[in-house]
Amino acid sequence: MPCLLRGTASYGEGMEDDSVVIEQFRAAVDRRLAELSPDHDARPARLAEAARYAVLSPGKRFRPMLTLLAAREFGAEPLMALDAACAFEMVHAASLILDDLPSMDDADLRRGRPTTHQAFDEATAILAAVGLLNQAFGVIAGDPGLPDAARADLLRRLSASVGFQGLVSGQALDLHDRDHVRTPDDIDLLNHRKTGILMVAAAQAGALVAGAPAGAVTAVGEFARRLGLAFQIQDDLIDAAFIADSGKDLGKDAGMMTLVTALGPQEAAAAVGAHLEAAGAALARAGATGLLARYAFGLFEARKAAA
Ligand code: IPE
Ligand code: IPE
Ligand code: MG
Ligand code: MG
Ligand code: MG
Repeated sequence: MPCLLRGTASYGEGMEDDSVVIEQFRAAVDRRLAELSPDHDARPARLAEAARYAVLSPGKRFRPMLTLLAAREFGAEPLMALDAACAFEMVHAASLILDDLPSMDDADLRRGRPTTHQAFDEATAILAAVGLLNQAFGVIAGDPGLPDAARADLLRRLSASVGFQGLVSGQALDLHDRDHVRTPDDIDLLNHRKTGILMVAAAQAGALVAGAPAGAVTAVGEFARRLGLAFQIQDDLIDAAFIADSGKDLGKDAGMMTLVTALGPQEAAAAVGAHLEAAGAALARAGATGLLARYAFGLFEARKAAA
């Protein structure tokens, strides 16, 4: 299906208001994700519906926004990175399906709705996750708007961020010996791998699509690494404090050693602040002090206010 959005005029010039750009980018991601998802008439219908259910349900779209805003920061054409951005959301959606399974976090609620294995069944949920993960690579591989070198680089980075030193290894670390003592360094590694590393790849993908210089790509990676660490600690604070509007089961980390249990909530909140400060400094090094920073840090403020 052709990309209906890439290069269309309305996302570029003359938009002073941050919230307008953010909403337009988010809407573009949602529309394109719907186009890229298996059609309603795909067979078997149950598998297609499960994939649509998981990926189109109302999430923050944080990872694709990192891609699009990083690309914008370094001067890419509006929405040039849209398909790559959607690929990161597909991987994220797959990771959530798997994370919620009975053999993992055994969760019933996700994004305010029954988890995919509850709404469908476990086998369908697993297959939908594998299908989404696979499709993410296909979306980047088939994106005609990407220069060949950037396409190969993005695929390599996406693979590394998911693989045996990436998200799946983070999930394995998370699930293994949950109640054992973990040092803050162990927990940082776990949090980076299960959560941060995909954000690093997503943000760097945007910078790469825009042709940012190598030093800026590295600095954007450090920004996203710190952001990911802060993000997972804040998620753990929300879980521990039973913040009811999170749209997911709470108390799922009970009995597991997180930075919140290792340091206590106050020090954990201070660690979030320290990571965000370092993230801001990294972005400044990249010369990217525009909407990407305001969006990313604004999201933390909004979640803190909700807490
Ligand atoms: C949830 O990610 C998984 C974690 C890494 C904590 P998000 O908080 O971004 O979830 P959605 O995409 O908005 O549902
Ligand atoms: C999971 O962390 C990160 C993923 C790779 C999905 P959590 O298990 O804390 O995420 P939530 O709280 O279920 O969203
Ligand atoms: Mg988990
Ligand atoms: Mg979970
Ligand atoms: Mg959590």
